[in-house]
Amino acid sequence: MTGRLEGKVAIITGAGCVGPGWGNGRAECVRFAQEGAKIFAVDLNSEPMDETLEKVADFGGEIETHLCDVTDKSQVDKMVEACVERFGRVDILINNVGGSAHGGPVEMDEDTWDHQMAFNVKSVYLCCKAVLPIMEKQGSGVIINTGSSAGLRWTGVPQSAYAAAKAGIIHFSRVLGVQYAPKGIRVCTVIPGQMHTPMVAARLADQHAGGDVEGLLKKRQARIPLGFMGDGRDIANAALFLCSDEARFITATELVVDGGMTARCD
Ligand SMILES: NC(=O)c1ccc[n+]([C@@H]2O[C@H](COP(=O)([O-])OP(=O)(O)OC[C@H]3O[C@@H](n4cnc5c(N)ncnc54)[C@H](O)[C@@H]3O)[C@@H](O)[C@H]2O)c1
Repeated sequence: MTGRLEGKVAIITGAGCVGPGWGNGRAECVRFAQEGAKIFAVDLNSEPMDETLEKVADFGGEIETHLCDVTDKSQVDKMVEACVERFGRVDILINNVGGSAHGGPVEMDEDTWDHQMAFNVKSVYLCCKAVLPIMEKQGSGVIINTGSSAGLRWTGVPQSAYAAAKAGIIHFSRVLGVQYAPKGIRVCTVIPGQMHTPMVAARLADQHAGGDVEGLLKKRQARIPLGFMGDGRDIANAALFLCSDEARFITATELVVDGGMTARCD
């Protein structure tokens, strides 16, 4: 049986994870490779990608790693060139790098605000800028940007820059989706809710709960109507659907993966 992404070349940014387990980018690398994609895995550091490589190697999937800071234009341009040199094309771009910082505008300093914008939005712009001309020449391609429920609603903690950046991603993707639809390129946003990824223990618990990981997980879970927390594999399955031919009529829109949280008003 052939996979749903057989022979497709996928650049996935943030292909490692802040800790062991299923971050979104790692899960996307593994799931896409299981479906026959050739993975061009991109991360700032090589160590977080070790577990990703192991998981893909377990079933003999094809994966190449590349180090790149996706907030830096010259590094992004070189990264995309390296992918084309290695695999000859780019069918899929998953812009997965991003993350939050705590605070409203009064308590957040200007450097943190600027970093949040570069980390969450400029990185997406730079990768799209480098990849779109290649997809345009091919006459096909899919770009999936990664939003957050924080870009749709209040999520229990002040994350003003992150919320603004992730809301921006949604509309950026819609506009790109319409602009590039006549060229055969689809652009969508996957919107993770409050997932149980290693990032919660590695970063969020300190930012929002004085280091109380279990307490924070309980609070996050209590907001989810389905009553359990998804992880990176749920995001990967949603992105897989959007990248597959099954989604050929879907562009310039979003898929929310949050166990129902966004629709709940408390
Ligand atoms: N985890 C959640 O609950 C959650 C919820 C909503 C949205 N998201 C979004 O999902 C995405 C992935 O989140 P995660 O928690 O799985 O990721 P993560 O924090 O585990 O990070 C993934 C990888 O990104 C790499 N990275 C960081 N900065 C980079 C840079 N400048 N260039 C290249 N690589 C870089 C890190 O080294 C790491 O290996 C983010 O955009 C995040 O905002 C996550």
